[in-house]
Amino acid sequence: MSTANEAYEVSDITSRLVTFSGPNGRRIVGYLDEGVEALWNERVVVLAPRYGETKKNNLKLSYLFAANGFKVLRFDQTNHIGESDGSMDQYTLINVTNDIQSVVDHVDRFFEPTEIILMTLSLSARCGLRACALDPRISRHVSLVGMVNMDRTLKAIYNRDFFGELAAGAQWSLVDILGFEIDGARFYQSLLETNMLNLEGALADADQVTIPALHICAENDRWVEQAEVEAVMLRCKFGRVEVVKNVGHEINENPEALNLAFGSMLAFCRSGLDEKHITNCVPSKATLLAQNKLERTQLKAVLQFTQKEPEFWGEYLGKFGIIESAAYYSEYFQTVSSLLGAIESYDVIVDAGCGNGFYGVCVLRALLQSIQAQHSVPNSVHYCGIDLTSEGLLRSYSRHAQELISLQREAMQAQGTVGFSYRKIDFDTIGKVEAATLPFADASVHKICSSLVLSYLQEPEHLMRECYRVLQADGVAVFSTMKPGCDMTVLYHDYVTQDTKVHAEKDAADLLSAAGRIKLKKDAGVYAFFDFEELEYLARKAGFSKVNCVRSFGGQANVIRVVK
Ligand SMILES: C[S@@+](CC[C@H](N)C(=O)[O-])C[C@H]1O[C@@H](n2cnc3c(N)ncnc32)[C@H](O)[C@@H]1O
Repeated sequence: MSTANEAYEVSDITSRLVTFSGPNGRRIVGYLDEGVEALWNERVVVLAPRYGETKKNNLKLSYLFAANGFKVLRFDQTNHIGESDGSMDQYTLINVTNDIQSVVDHVDRFFEPTEIILMTLSLSARCGLRACALDPRISRHVSLVGMVNMDRTLKAIYNRDFFGELAAGAQWSLVDILGFEIDGARFYQSLLETNMLNLEGALADADQVTIPALHICAENDRWVEQAEVEAVMLRCKFGRVEVVKNVGHEINENPEALNLAFGSMLAFCRSGLDEKHITNCVPSKATLLAQNKLERTQLKAVLQFTQKEPEFWGEYLGKFGIIESAAYYSEYFQTVSSLLGAIESYDVIVDAGCGNGFYGVCVLRALLQSIQAQHSVPNSVHYCGIDLTSEGLLRSYSRHAQELISLQREAMQAQGTVGFSYRKIDFDTIGKVEAATLPFADASVHKICSSLVLSYLQEPEHLMRECYRVLQADGVAVFSTMKPGCDMTVLYHDYVTQDTKVHAEKDAADLLSAAGRIKLKKDAGVYAFFDFEELEYLARKAGFSKVNCVRSFGGQANVIRVVK
């Protein structure tokens, strides 16, 4: 595989918004990305987004191709999220296939391409396969973590046979698939009618595909069976599979794997070109950032998140409670607790964004253990859980109450005291509203846990600065965030496969739905997941000097420990 290493930076890339008619007259909106250099070749890439994503998610990939001389038309699917017409509940795979063909029509009419290359990701790969079987104008197909068997994938995600239930007569109307409500019965009916439900349909399509096709698989993909992809590619006349190691379906999660995959895609799309036309360029960071910012603002305006944050989190926490039974979650809190260190007498401990109060549970358990092991308890320990939502605080309180009562009884016998309190504060008011602060005096707190909170704040540095103010010298804080490109399904898979409770699948589906909504808000710039560099930058700006970085939560969260 070739890589994009040691490449020239290109900053002259333009993105032009294009609008044209798609299936049934519905409007398709896309971006045409191209470098300003005279094109060496009129190879135009049609880039179809993944399910639940928009053209914005493919900006980086598209700009890499634009920097290397391709024209790329990345678009929003109709009947899907994004700017194109239609409503998400009407989503079907055949509709995506029709979208792809409409984009091919547009490219064919307006660009006089020498080649039309189709690029698909995840679920859109199945639609791409059908489009290639039908449309001779497509000259190559390259897919990244493409799915070939809808039935299998849905079972793998949810550990549940949705389609089997429908076939057995279940009556569904709207069903939540990864955070988006779609008309389940219509979706299933369309899969049956168009032979896109399972592997047989994909194999039949593959028999019609006579163009070069490259399918890039992720080695640890839980959603896509590599053997099935290989079977499909074997049936394509010029099909080929490449496997990227050490990564799952969310290939963004591992930047090195992503670069390898992008390098392979580039090599495949320019094969057959004269060597002297081949460039090795990457888009400049500034160019990418500027366009990303613009599209984020557009997406935010299009999606119009109307639900208020306390409501959103209240609902989310109701569903998130069950994640406590996932092994990764308790391991993660063990890491957080050990980074914060043993609880000592007179410790004041703040749980900033306590959610359902799991860190408080860890504090209680540590204190109980210390009594049981040493018949003594650190004296005068105080824990304060703070959150935006009354629902979270109530859940924290009821989670803690039972253990707290027995702890207090034992603590009194061991001649110690323990206090738990709760405060409702909107961290977004810190730094904005006069007198909005954490309710502690300067240098009065010993430990702060702020787990998976910074990402959801408008100005995370304001909370960090407040934490710095209230911590005493040598006080410790732990902050964490999901990492950019994290794969939430790893966590939910962990939960579903280990849990024996009757409702495990339903609970996991709720979690995936909540995660889908968080991801959408992240794509639109309402939330932000930080890498270690960004976390460290925020911490140092707030005044912290010693910063340690740790990966946890099934490898999906970035955690930093800072000392004042
Ligand atoms: C993903 S949950 C994490 C909860 C908990 N710390 C944990 O790790 O399990 C994010 C938490 O941040 C809280 N939160 C979000 N925005 C907030 C704000 N502006 N002020 C205070 N808390 C906020 C939410 O209510 C929610 O409890």
